[in-house]
Amino acid sequence: MTPSPGGRSADAARSPFRVGLLGHGTVGGAFAELVEARADAIEAEVGRRPEVSGVLTRSRGDFADILAHSDLVVELMGGTEPAREYVLRAMGEGRHVVTANKQLLSQFGEELFDAARSNGVQLRFEAAVAGVVPAVRVMAESLAAAHIERVHGIVNGTTNFILSEMARTGATYEDCLREAQQLGYAEADPTEDVSGRDAAAKMAILARLAFGAAVHIDQVPHEGIEHLTAEDIAYARELGLSLKLVGTAERVGEGIAVDVHPVFLYGDHPLASVNGAFNAVTIESPAITEITLSGPGAGGSQTASAVLGDVVSAMIPPPSTIPPAVDLPLVSETESSFYMHLEVADRPGVLAQVAEILGLQGVSVRSVVQRGMGDDARLVMVMHPVPEGRFRAAVEMIRRLDFVRSEPRVIRVLEETFDQ
Ligand SMILES: NC(=O)c1ccc[n+]([C@@H]2O[C@H](COP(=O)([O-])OP(=O)(O)OC[C@H]3O[C@@H](n4cnc5c(N)ncnc54)[C@H](OP(=O)(O)O)[C@@H]3O)[C@@H](O)[C@H]2O)c1
Repeated sequence: MTPSPGGRSADAARSPFRVGLLGHGTVGGAFAELVEARADAIEAEVGRRPEVSGVLTRSRGDFADILAHSDLVVELMGGTEPAREYVLRAMGEGRHVVTANKQLLSQFGEELFDAARSNGVQLRFEAAVAGVVPAVRVMAESLAAAHIERVHGIVNGTTNFILSEMARTGATYEDCLREAQQLGYAEADPTEDVSGRDAAAKMAILARLAFGAAVHIDQVPHEGIEHLTAEDIAYARELGLSLKLVGTAERVGEGIAVDVHPVFLYGDHPLASVNGAFNAVTIESPAITEITLSGPGAGGSQTASAVLGDVVSAMIPPPSTIPPAVDLPLVSETESSFYMHLEVADRPGVLAQVAEILGLQGVSVRSVVQRGMGDDARLVMVMHPVPEGRFRAAVEMIRRLDFVRSEPRVIRVLEETFDQ
């Protein structure tokens, strides 16, 4: 039977809804089990019973055969090739596609969205962005009429777990990474996660949904968490701050800015209390003020649940597609508040000289913690928001002062900026 995504015959309505499954690993395996477990309930709800009609791995299955016997294709292989080729072929032959693949979407999103539109099929990707947190659905559907100004996301569970553990136990980054690996939250090679690149891919996708503009992962500046110390976290706690890896996508003037950095958050920020392997996304728009969604960031069965939710949505017409991208310039110079940690010689006038340089660059100080320990004194400051270039110029002057004992440590601080 040839599937018809836009409408169904009476026969089709009674026959099983055939899902071709590409990938049978952590998520794919859990997805196949979940389809079986939920098939009765879904049939009762939407009138058709989903079944996995074919499975492709490196060692079993044939893609052409699976495609020929499917109404919809679920891609859970990961990587860009052959995932891209298979997804394009499936849509080219009229199949809806559901994927959890952020690498694919953050690099080839426009090609795939174009193909979905021109073939009149759905491309759904809830699980690609923030695990089970339904950020894609909320932005693409519930908030389709809202003018979104800014999105903040804790979109990587591994790094949020490591930072939460560093704060909770005072242990080093290395120890907490090892713990995350032992618990299965971090891969043997954790580079994609701890470098911020995984979060950058997800923020590129969220920016596309929020602003309609095409953003490639390579256009998203990202900073990881490898350089962060337990000491930074301990000092910051005295200032009422907690440390998270946060992605930001926001309108700046006529353009948009998208980036990922470790940031300090004040305790009243909605993301400050998101701990462990959880993810959360905060969406700001004048129409809705602010919405925060949070939940498990990853895991086979949790991710499979988001994937199956997309499959059920695709079983019910009418199809929804991502409209063509609009053209918005990417802005790289943005304003932020900063934390600065200086190791200095303990002598009179240190604070005054640092304050003078900051003042010359127009950087105003919000709070200070000072500890005197002979040659090992510390000066920890949090600034009010300032254009990053001005702050970096001040840091460059400060690091050259003779009483500064090591490289200044600088981390962004995210303030609640929404006017309520
Ligand atoms: N794991 C999570 O918690 C999570 C959360 C959100 C999103 N995701 C996304 O979900 C997707 C799947 O992740 P996963 O953790 O389930 O991966 P995984 O455990 O490594 O499983 C990948 C599956 O795809 C198959 N595969 C890979 N390359 C293939 C190829 N060239 N041809 C045929 N089959 C191929 C593998 O086959 P073999 O079995 O033969 O190796 C395996 O069955 C990724 O895009 C990932 O980013 C995962």
